[in-house]
Parts: sequence; structure tokens; C-alpha cells
Amino acid sequence: MKKLLSLLIMVSLITVMVAGCGKTPERAEPATTEAESSESSETPEAPAAEEAGFAADAVIGVALPWLGTQNWAEADEMFKSKLEAAGFKAIVQHADNKVPTQQQQIESMVQNGAKVIVVGPVDGSQLGGVLEEAAAAGIFIIGYDRLIENTTAIDGVVQFDSIKTGVLQGEALLTGLAAQKGEGPYNIELFGGGPADPNAPNFFKGAMTVLQPKIDDGTIVVVSGQTDFTQAATLDWDNAKAQARMDSLLSGFYSDKEIHGVLCPNDGIARAVITASGQAGQETPVTSGLDAENETVTWIWEDRQYSTIAKPTDTLVSKTIEIIKALQAGNGLPAPDETTDNGMKEVGIYALPPLVVTKENIKEAFANDPGRLELLK
Ligand code: BGC
Repeated sequence: MKKLLSLLIMVSLITVMVAGCGKTPERAEPATTEAESSESSETPEAPAAEEAGFAADAVIGVALPWLGTQNWAEADEMFKSKLEAAGFKAIVQHADNKVPTQQQQIESMVQNGAKVIVVGPVDGSQLGGVLEEAAAAGIFIIGYDRLIENTTAIDGVVQFDSIKTGVLQGEALLTGLAAQKGEGPYNIELFGGGPADPNAPNFFKGAMTVLQPKIDDGTIVVVSGQTDFTQAATLDWDNAKAQARMDSLLSGFYSDKEIHGVLCPNDGIARAVITASGQAGQETPVTSGLDAENETVTWIWEDRQYSTIAKPTDTLVSKTIEIIKALQAGNGLPAPDETTDNGMKEVGIYALPPLVVTKENIKEAFANDPGRLELLK
């Protein structure tokens, strides 16, 4: 009788424990048979179920938005080679900037048994449904380079600080104007990135913290008056659209004026703006940039583009794989550097520092990047 009683107590205790490990509104438990509960936790707020590891040769999915700028093409190659080298089976795909394609790709990664899905979203707010399905299957979801918005199905984001990037772009523009365009006031125009990309409004916001006071005190003049992100944004980060907007700004507002500088959110847009300016008979305006694309590294070296920002893909991919390895080993998510509100939850951000590059520091900046260093001859 005594034995029967203790057996009953044990059974009910196990039932309570199992129920306690179930899905939480925040995060689903990983559906893994190797799951082991662990006492230690680096992120105390993380549910215990996240502590379970998975097989060392598990499938890892990587869903990239497109390969339209050099950073994404580098990520595509590096994820394939580095994940395989770490012993994982990698499914790396890009969605050609199309939301439905990316949704289908993520669904198929879930069906293929991925344990972690890394996502650079085409549109930061259009993946909620598909990622919630993935989370319900116990899959970890890591944002790569871009935030994923309006969903709880996100475990963290690895990125170069996006507001800081914008601040650096604004500062580089001002420094370049003072260095190359004499005394102000300076005539400038503002460009933003693709509005679906959560980085784009942040880059712009960061830059405006630096530029707005200079607009207010008259040091710089946005001749077109187009100072809102919605007016400055470039649909889909499409360089041709940026060039067309620059053409019409120049013909509409600069037929009798010099343009001194342009805030550019990345290198492709900077090159489009510089090309349009040259075609309109303008001197090369000072621009900011981003990505340190090969073509821009050459343009900076040849004094055709003033600045860019280095955010090395190698560092970003390596950091992401470090997190995947921690999850695989059952160590849980490493502690993030900061958190940000994605509309539904505070998301942990693994933040890396962006670096401004001009002709002055370009050799030091790429001292460990033989490919780019080779271009500086
Ligand atoms: C990335 C940039 C890139 C842009 C367009 C952004 O989210 O941070 O590096 O230039 O997307 O592809």
C-alpha cells in the first residue's frame, strides 16, 4: 500500500513537471529527443526548455533576403562554408527580395528538420506566421543583420548597431563637407534605404540625430525640403530607383546650384547618386555609404566616393555561428549586449561595432582583409 502510494505521488509529480516544461506564450520548447534539462542558465529569463542542445550534425537553415549587395552574397558563401566546417548540414537560401518566397523557404527548412533558422528578413514584419510555426516546432530563430518585428518567435538578433551606423553616416557626411567643400552653408540631399528593412529607418534616424541640429542652425540646407524618411526612402534598396530620384532632384532643384553632399544609406546608393551627379555636370558630392563593397573601396581610393562603413560579413557570420554552437552544446543563448522592442517583445541584440572608412584610414581598416587590401594599389 505504502509502495502504491509513493508510486502515485511520483506519477503525479512527473505529470506536473512535464506540464511545466510545455509551451510558454514567449517561446516553444525544442522538440528534441536529446533534450536534457540543465540547472545553469546564462539568461535567467529564458525558459528552461531553451537549454536543451541538439545533434552536432543538425540541419541549420539560413534564409537571406537577396544577393543584391555584396554583404549578402558574402553571407551566402560564408554560411555555407562555415556551417559545414562546424559539422552542421546547411540549407542556405535567398529570396530575391520576395516575401512569399522567403516564407516558403522557411517553411521548407522547418520540414527539413532544421534546429536553428537564421533569418535576414526581406520585410521585417511579414514573417510572424511562418516563424511562429517554426518556434512551435521547437526551432531557435536568430535574426541576422536585420531585426524581425511584430512576433514573439525570435530568440535574438546579430547585427551591427543600426542607430550607431546612421550616426556614423551623418558624422562622416559633415566631416567630409568641412574637409572638401570649403565654408558652409552646404546644399545636401537625404537618401534612405528600403522601407521594409527595419535597418533603413534606424540608419536614417541615427543620421538625423546628427544632421537635424545642423539643418536647424543653417549649416546645411536640404534644398528639396525632403527630410522625412518616407520621402527619402529607396524602395527595395534599388540603386536604379535611387539614381532616378537623384536625377529628378538635380533637374528640379539644382539647375543653378551646386550640390555639396548626400546622405547615402549604402554603397550601391552612393554610387548611383555620384553617377547621377556626374551626368548632371556636378562636381562629386561628399557621400556616406555602407558595406565597404569592393567597387566602393576602389572609388574611395580614387577619390570618387568620400566614405563608407565597414561591417565585416565575416564577423557577423562568425558571431551567428558562435551562438548556434552554444545552442547546440546545450548552453542556451549567450547573454545579449542590449535589447530592443520589436513591437511584441524585448529582443536580445548581439551588437557589433560599425567602423567609418575614408581614404585616410582605409589601409588600416582592411589590414586583415586581403581581398580589399589588394584593391588599394
Ligand atoms: C544591410 C546593408 C545592405 C542593405 C541592402 C541592410 O539591411 O544592413 O548592409 O546594404 O540591407 O541590401
